[in-house]
Amino acid sequence: MFGIDRARKTAAAAIATAAAATTALLGAPSAVAAPQPIVGGSTTTTTAYPFMMQITDASQNQFCGGTLVAANKVVTAAHCMVGETTSSVRVVGGRTYLNGTNGTVSRVSKIWINPDYTDATNGDDVAVLTLSTSMPYTKASYVSSSQTSVYAAGTTARILGWGTTSENGGSSNQLRTATVPIVSDSSCKSSYGSGFVASDMVCAGYSSGGVDTCQGDSGGPLLIGGVLAGITSWGEGCAEAGHPGVYTRLTTFSNLVTAQVNS
Ligand code: ARG
Repeated sequence: MFGIDRARKTAAAAIATAAAATTALLGAPSAVAAPQPIVGGSTTTTTAYPFMMQITDASQNQFCGGTLVAANKVVTAAHCMVGETTSSVRVVGGRTYLNGTNGTVSRVSKIWINPDYTDATNGDDVAVLTLSTSMPYTKASYVSSSQTSVYAAGTTARILGWGTTSENGGSSNQLRTATVPIVSDSSCKSSYGSGFVASDMVCAGYSSGGVDTCQGDSGGPLLIGGVLAGITSWGEGCAEAGHPGVYTRLTTFSNLVTAQVNS
């Protein structure tokens, strides 16, 4: 549904065509808006958000985001890890640019995928990676299971990633960030019907669209008050009016994450 897995694996390929796509968009008459961050937003750095990790393949081609929650533990989306093995994945910290070579590259010694996960649109979209090399970066704290009030509609949330800057566009070489309001469960249900599972998901975005996560941002953080409260999971297209981004509702999975962090 909504091409989630297809989109994930094409993220690395999209980087290669990003420059060409950007040129094409900018070269076109002004019918199409210039590509924006994530979609909408601005450039930032891993210095500003040190817990922001690139999840890459063995050649360090980024395909998802992740959040450092302990020196050797990274929270990401389950759908990012489907078909991956401890030898196929790397986690890269301290690297603002996709084409950078700096920062810390770690292998992964364990991939925990929520055992209930089937598809992002069914919920349960959370995974925890155990790193072989500890990251020398400040970790993020994450919500506890009781903090369900953080998702009050209208609350400002921050999204981060290297994903595509328009629905069919290319990835961003530089990390980007934007803020989006949390959408009420009833409104998100109106957008997505039975695809929206309120116990496991929370939506964020403007009703008019324009700012959103997009392909390649999956697994990355939704921060509320600087605390990890969601994981980029899915959406119909990107930044479309009436179709907010859907994030894993981390309060539901907080105890599961903690069990992995302590394991
Ligand atoms: N599934 C996408 C990924 O793997 C993330 C899509 C987010 N979509 C959205 N409209 N917010 O990168």
